[in-house]
Amino acid sequence: MVSWSQSERSTIEDLWDKINVDEIGPQALARVLIVYPWTQRYFGKFGNLNSVPAILGNSEVIAHGKVVLKALDKAVKDLDNIKTTYKNLSKLHSETLNVDPDNFRLFADCLTIVIATKFGPEFTPEIQATWQKFLAVVVAALSSHYF
Ligand code: HEM
Repeated sequence: MVSWSQSERSTIEDLWDKINVDEIGPQALARVLIVYPWTQRYFGKFGNLNSVPAILGNSEVIAHGKVVLKALDKAVKDLDNIKTTYKNLSKLHSETLNVDPDNFRLFADCLTIVIATKFGPEFTPEIQATWQKFLAVVVAALSSHYF
């Protein structure tokens, strides 16, 4: 069971309050698809992902990026139960979508980079450390059904 200090809880909440899910979600998903092109194989039904402009402008990528970040909102709002929150999503990604769980960490890293790019010096190393602890717990929860 992960424990969260009061300061970690408020750091995550404060950062999350500033994040526009509809902006950051699509950017993070597009970044994964561009930086790690093998991840495109999971999104075959999303249409044209053949170039950077195609990925950035793909309406399904944009919509799905929002869906993924909205799912993160549940973890932020219930930090003590992240594993339970993602039980069904872990099962879906494992058994139905067959997503290699290594990709969760790649998505988490891309999301952190998008946030760092957006907030610049405001995203201090201390905030990053807490944010990455949060994402590590999310990644472990999403991976839990695999092992
Ligand atoms: C923080 C990481 C992630 C979260 C929170 C997340 C969350 C979600 C959610 C909420 C859905 C929709 C589930 C539903 O419709 O019931 C979904 C679908 C999906 N996810 Fe993830 N996901 C994550 C990472 C990934 C990664 C890294 C990949 C692949 C590289 C991936 C591939 C997919 C695919 C292929 C679908 C189905 C899309 C569709 O057919 O519309 N996910 N994910």
